[in-house]
Amino acid sequence: TVTVCRSLCNISKGLGEFLEVKLTLDELNLSNQQLTKIMEKMIKEMVKGLGKDTNEDATVKMIPSYVKSLPDGTERGQFLALDLGGTNFRVLLVKIKEADEINGQPKIEMDSQIYRMPENVITGKGDELFDHIALCMADFLKKLDLLDHKLPVGFTFSFPCKQDGLDHATLITWTKGFSASNVVGKDIVKMLKTAIDKRGDLDVDIIAVVNDTVGTMTSCAFDDQECMIGLIVGTGSNACYMEKMSNIERLDSNKGGMCINMEWGAFGDDGALSDYRNEYDVHVDENSLNSGKQLYEKMISGMYMGEIVRLVLVKLTEDGLLFGGETSEALKTPGTFQTSYVSQIESAIPSGMTAVQNILANLGIGAMRADCEVVIQVCKAVSRRAAHLCAAGIAAVARKIKANHPDRETLRMTVGVDGTVYKKHPTFSQMMSEKVDELCAGAGVDVHFALSYDGSGKGAALITAVAQRKIGSDE
Ligand code: GLC
Repeated sequence: TVTVCRSLCNISKGLGEFLEVKLTLDELNLSNQQLTKIMEKMIKEMVKGLGKDTNEDATVKMIPSYVKSLPDGTERGQFLALDLGGTNFRVLLVKIKEADEINGQPKIEMDSQIYRMPENVITGKGDELFDHIALCMADFLKKLDLLDHKLPVGFTFSFPCKQDGLDHATLITWTKGFSASNVVGKDIVKMLKTAIDKRGDLDVDIIAVVNDTVGTMTSCAFDDQECMIGLIVGTGSNACYMEKMSNIERLDSNKGGMCINMEWGAFGDDGALSDYRNEYDVHVDENSLNSGKQLYEKMISGMYMGEIVRLVLVKLTEDGLLFGGETSEALKTPGTFQTSYVSQIESAIPSGMTAVQNILANLGIGAMRADCEVVIQVCKAVSRRAAHLCAAGIAAVARKIKANHPDRETLRMTVGVDGTVYKKHPTFSQMMSEKVDELCAGAGVDVHFALSYDGSGKGAALITAVAQRKIGSDE
């Protein structure tokens, strides 16, 4: 009898713990009804952002990118592309050559180098950040023996900037952990030019500044005419799409279309997401460099995903539901649970628990099988919520584009995507695409996703090529 009682007690304790874990994970679940509401709110915010009188109060800024025509495959030449948006700065030499005889496609050849952006540079003085960029450019061109070539430059600068032309961009605010002083409110093209001129060894012509979403969409459109949306799910998250000029009230033209950099990361900064944010989201935001800002991005992107998982794990441990109730110093330290762990842990599922145990061992935790199972569930819940939130955003964009084509029964569209979360996580892309289909059911859209490799750099070069052709033909 005693043994039976003990095992019954164990079962009921196990069941109790299981239910408590489930309750915690339920906080990370968004129903289709909730996601539909989020999608509708996003559409409203997009319209607000496009409106002349409403833009100022809109959280989603809907910034005209001045990219109007997409590449048509006839672009040729040699370009320098710069890509700044995270802890790595990349310099690329992009050569667009004559069509390949075999498949008739123009050939794009690239060489590039990655330069790390030291923490003291991204959070230091603005002038020094641009000096550092110029230094990397000079190093790269010297290595390729191109220092004395006057190269056209396309600059992918992945932060919210107000543009009034392709080659002017005023930083509205830093995001993603950048905070260099005296850059907000300044034209970043001017700042880079000053840094370049100061050196005296570079001869370049900055033709275009583009957001990474815009570069990604453009490079994808080079191969796929149906590509009209660009999406990034990496350190940050954002999207762009082709909008009708007549809907962009702030610009006085009714002709054709223009790519809009949505800056959707700031969605929710007015409280629109307060019904869906939980204690972990609040904690992540309060402990960030830009508290109160980029609330949608903070629920989705790689800079924050690992941290959300860490907070849930700490909570479950403190409630006695995980790791025998014992946390470790490492687990209690912000930032230690990298987002790459989430991808690694979820990828490890079929091959057993060792990979999960290794990651936890690095954090000073000896995990049993049952612990690993809970950790996997937490990772899954956090990444699934991110994928579903992102899907709500894409469904909003797809429906908004469809409204511009009432004559088409079904509109096919491709989303060009880049970013580490999308690329490295084993199921993010699938979860997102399935949810987009559910949220768009009956809307007359058929949304596809295409992974873009080196999209933002290649895209910046293509945009520069298109712009140069325009300057050349005096259009
Ligand atoms: C942040 C930036 C945005 C960028 C995105 C992805 O949200 O504000 O400009 O596109 O990160 O890198």
